[in-house]
Amino acid sequence: MSPLADRYGRRFPYLRLSVIPACNFRCTYCLPHGYHADPKAAGPLSLDEITRLLRGFTELGMHKLRITGGEPSVRNDLADILRVAAAVPGVTKLAMTTNGTLLSRRLGEWMDAGLNAINVSVDSLDRTTFTRITGHDRLEDILHGVDMALATDMPSVKLNAVLLRDVNDRELPTWLDYLRDRRIGLRFIELMQTGDNLPFFRDHHVRAETLETQLLESGWQALPRAADAGPAREYRHADYAGRIGIIAPYSKDFCTGCNRLRVTATGDLRLCLFGEFGIPLRRFLQADEQLEELVQAIGGQIGRKEQGHFLHEGRTGITPHLASTGG
Ligand code: GTP
Ligand code: 5AD
Ligand code: SF4
Repeated sequence: MSPLADRYGRRFPYLRLSVIPACNFRCTYCLPHGYHADPKAAGPLSLDEITRLLRGFTELGMHKLRITGGEPSVRNDLADILRVAAAVPGVTKLAMTTNGTLLSRRLGEWMDAGLNAINVSVDSLDRTTFTRITGHDRLEDILHGVDMALATDMPSVKLNAVLLRDVNDRELPTWLDYLRDRRIGLRFIELMQTGDNLPFFRDHHVRAETLETQLLESGWQALPRAADAGPAREYRHADYAGRIGIIAPYSKDFCTGCNRLRVTATGDLRLCLFGEFGIPLRRFLQADEQLEELVQAIGGQIGRKEQGHFLHEGRTGITPHLASTGG
């Protein structure tokens, strides 16, 4: 089958699969009161369901898979998930986004299972600020885990820092020291409004352009945008081993190059991070024989993908926080 494309000619080689909505952190912009499971909610997809789902998506041209949460490592069978995902023919890049709490302890196990790219959320290099944002005094161990990952042959190690006005928006010099000798990609992410964080958003949203200007003034150069680039605009500097990316979802044309689809932990297809509806796929994941039905179901929905998100209009779709959609 040829790769699927939407009405705007976009293709979707990249799937983001949330494996659990729960998280052990309580980031101020995401889950400030921690995650509280709905006792009536269905459990997350099983290993067999995940395998069938991925077979369906690879039929439609997916080859990069990112495991997200919540926090994926809250699942005890995470290494098994990675193993079954890596074994699906066609999955060539197996990435994960994590808050890094188990990184230093589990890195070897995850890599043995097939993980070949990791993004770690580190919103500040200052211990007090990090603790204030996440609710957990774990910065030192997480950074140790990141350095362990950099010392391996892992092809891609990146950090994510969400920019927050009056919290961590004056830390560029510290970040630059960190990047001087580390071959790591640091991405600054502009805070996005979700259903749950409106007052916080009003107080702390800061446009990424401010940072972009500072980078250009200090000799960082914008890299040409690759055709298959993700949402980040990238910058480099000859004196630094690391690179910087800026993810600015409120910027013009952010969605033009969208190359990804999402599936929630319970198997709902989300056409956009801020889309208005989720399409249940779980009923097509109950037997291997349902593969063709699954492929038809996914293919039939792609035409409904909107050109862009509605964040500019202050609408957040059905997204209460990004833990529910895998970020
Ligand atoms: P790479 O695969 O390494 O390019 O990473 P990524 O940026 O796709 O993934 P990651 O999980 O590290 O996400 C970083 C940030 O980008 C998170 O805040 C995501 O919510 C945001 N992001 C990723 N994809 C989208 C998207 O399609 N739309 C919007 N608005 N934000 C996105
Ligand atoms: N705005 C921007 N980024 C967010 N993340 C979670 N919630 C938000 C938000 N409202 C980030 C996390 C993590 C990534 C997956 O998404 O910090 O790095
Ligand atoms: Fe957890 Fe990620 Fe949300 Fe922080 S941003 S509370 S680490 S899901």
